[in-house]
Amino acid sequence: MKLLSSISSAFTCRWPLLAFVFFGAVQLRAQTPDPHSFSRPDEVITTHLSLNAKVDFEARIIAATAQYALRRTSPDAQRLVLDTWKLNVSSVKDQEGKKLAYEWSDFDELFGSALEIELLPATFAVQITYTTDPSAKALQWLLPQQTAGKTMPYLFTQSQAILARTWLPCQDSPGVRFTYDATVAVPKGMMALMSAENPQKKSEDGVYKFRMDQPIPSYLMAMAVGDLEFEAVGNRTGVYAEPRQMKAAVYEFAEMEQMLNAAEALYGPYAWERYDLIVLPPSFPFGGMENPRLTFCTPTIIAGDRSLTALVAHELAHSWSGNLVTNKTWNDFWLNEGFTVYFERRIMEALYGVEYSNMLALLGMQDLQATLGELGHSHADTHLKLALAGRDPDEGLTDVAYEKGYFFLRAIEETVGREKFDAFLRGYFARNAFKVMDTEAFIRELRTKLLRGPHLNFPVDEWVYGPGLPENAPVIHSDKFAAVERALDSFLRGDASPEELLTSTWTTHEWLHFIRQLPSDVSERSLDRLDEAFELTHSGNSEILAAWFVVGLRAGYEEIDRPMEEFLWEVGRRKFLVPIYTELYRVNPDKAKTIYSRSRENYHSVSTLTLDGLLR
Ligand code: BES
Ligand code: ZN
Repeated sequence: MKLLSSISSAFTCRWPLLAFVFFGAVQLRAQTPDPHSFSRPDEVITTHLSLNAKVDFEARIIAATAQYALRRTSPDAQRLVLDTWKLNVSSVKDQEGKKLAYEWSDFDELFGSALEIELLPATFAVQITYTTDPSAKALQWLLPQQTAGKTMPYLFTQSQAILARTWLPCQDSPGVRFTYDATVAVPKGMMALMSAENPQKKSEDGVYKFRMDQPIPSYLMAMAVGDLEFEAVGNRTGVYAEPRQMKAAVYEFAEMEQMLNAAEALYGPYAWERYDLIVLPPSFPFGGMENPRLTFCTPTIIAGDRSLTALVAHELAHSWSGNLVTNKTWNDFWLNEGFTVYFERRIMEALYGVEYSNMLALLGMQDLQATLGELGHSHADTHLKLALAGRDPDEGLTDVAYEKGYFFLRAIEETVGREKFDAFLRGYFARNAFKVMDTEAFIRELRTKLLRGPHLNFPVDEWVYGPGLPENAPVIHSDKFAAVERALDSFLRGDASPEELLTSTWTTHEWLHFIRQLPSDVSERSLDRLDEAFELTHSGNSEILAAWFVVGLRAGYEEIDRPMEEFLWEVGRRKFLVPIYTELYRVNPDKAKTIYSRSRENYHSVSTLTLDGLLR
């Protein structure tokens, strides 16, 4: 769409004449401001949502009424267009409960249907009563056996990028912000949480009330329901988890408050009051999701040694880059993620030093090179500014936005100096708080405030609108990684046994570097020796495990088979599943399919959508 680039086609096929008469030829041909949303914020904006919802675990549906306050952005606006995906709407009313007329556009598997509500001149709020579909893509309904405690079911949402519409009728575009309040009823004994002011105790009756007073875009709407409890780790920070995971989680994330303080010292006050984190079940398809006030995160970063907490710094950093200054459409996704990776590494540098953050950056560069290799260095998806119209945004949202974005910002920092760059970023967040930003507006700020005079020649356009990695990309050196490379060399040459490699001080990042640098033709025997010395096959660290499985598969190293199958059954994090299944499919397609068809029920739709394409 094809379909969305001219929303009109969807409407005209059903009631061409009517649409023509009602809305006029001009608007019919007009484009929606966001290629991934049917909504028309250029006519009307939803400014506040009051959600009243009941979570039904038996039927696997949410039954709700969503009431929106409206503001007209065009004086003669006569309609409100909302994004929906298989929502079963039973009524649409105005602020007084009077019925409003509405129409649907044809259903599209990716974008859903536009719900077009006719507004009367006196309409200032609409109220939509609906239920979600059991197949709603944002929602993952888990049985008790799929949770840590195994006694209660679990529900969590994942709205980014365009899945909010599968559980909430909304203007599903990052360019629209609204405040919200919600009343949510869940089975007694369970706790409900949202991207809002949250309870810290279970309620008697299973009813919870929420408020989010800062305006947020729909992709940050979030809910989790489970057997949850809360424990503070600092004044403004805390952890929600199932009871069985609480102790490990509190240990792992003990430094959240320091991270928050470091972030504020870098780029200005935290705008969201509290910063809490919820540890989700392992089927969560991402590492983390920056839902405001409540980061959602995978339990696979609980390594027991706090070595994977850069992810927390990342999601925290989104409280500025993304949640405060928001990419206008998914074509500007690098503004969210590139800035956040830069900010994340600055937080980690503040806490653990520059050696640490440089290891993160080097691993990031390896990821970027791998992605550039897969896409092809001249592919349009290697541009920072993306062209995703008509496509699933999920497809185009790759490491490029994260790592090329990071190296772009780091290149600017190295050009103008850290002091100037930090002052610029502080100003950028302050000036644009609670606003949207697109690539072009950012470049204007950059050119007027930073890349002037001696820096005029910085190749901004090459970075943003060009493919691959420009020549002035920063080159990073790490003594620690250099030592890892020497160790690896001497092991491969047979000069040293695994025990002689001086690995005792290695952190997760050094191990990752070591495993990733193993040559593709490494022998089974070598892996076996490493395993005997370091028990990599049974590592409690998911990053090490996932990297090791890929190497093991390549070498035909059978020791990994059982633990790998267990991992694939348990863990639904797409970043791990994709490389493991890809390699497994290459060496043994039947086995890959068998394991996948068995484990698929445990995965979220975000992961199955990608893996179905790979394995089915
Ligand atoms: N916002 C993203 C997750 C996301 C991106 C969801 C695009 C849907 C569409 C989140 O902040 C993120 O980047 N998570 C990363 C972790 C991070 C440390 C790179 C992840 O989940 O791997
Ligand atoms: Zn992110």
